[in-house]
Amino acid sequence: MRAIYPGSFDPITLGHLDIIERASKIFSEVYVVVMENKRKKYTFSLNERITMIKECTNHIKNIKIDSFKGLLIDYVKHNNIDVIIRGLRAVTDFEYELQMAMANKEMCSNVDTVFLMTDKKFSFLSSSLVKEVAYFGGDISRWVPKNVEKRLLTLLEESKGGVDI
Ligand code: PNS
Repeated sequence: MRAIYPGSFDPITLGHLDIIERASKIFSEVYVVVMENKRKKYTFSLNERITMIKECTNHIKNIKIDSFKGLLIDYVKHNNIDVIIRGLRAVTDFEYELQMAMANKEMCSNVDTVFLMTDKKFSFLSSSLVKEVAYFGGDISRWVPKNVEKRLLTLLEESKGGVDI
């Protein structure tokens, strides 16, 4: 079965990576798709977000990394994807995720959303939290892959704290 794990990945965290690794054991093919939504502001460019994912997923053989600037379900239909994967951290994620899963199901009835529960050690983790802690000089090494930590610290250094996070 072909699955898609869509997201902003701004940047990818160890929580995302954990979901990708687990999904790759369940599904024969996993498309990790970086979504570019004009209505959202990102810290990293689309290319940087893709590069960071590529750098830390070399060990996973059945994934394809791609990007898309549109409605998720259009990508899903166009690529004959069977399942949408989303990670669930806490009850607070649930309402938004349920709404999205239902809307996607209504737009394409043969595609289901499968939720993977996040590992408990990442249950509070988000890209925004990582950026906030890094911005104020905290240690983010336990939450993101090494390459992401390096790029985030470089970005903060180069912008002298002037970056939008
Ligand atoms: O990691 P995120 O930001 O929670 O990703 C959510 C995602 C990928 C669904 C969203 O950011 C996005 O870009 N969607 C594209 C528009 C879309 O399909 N929205 C859902 C309609 S039901």
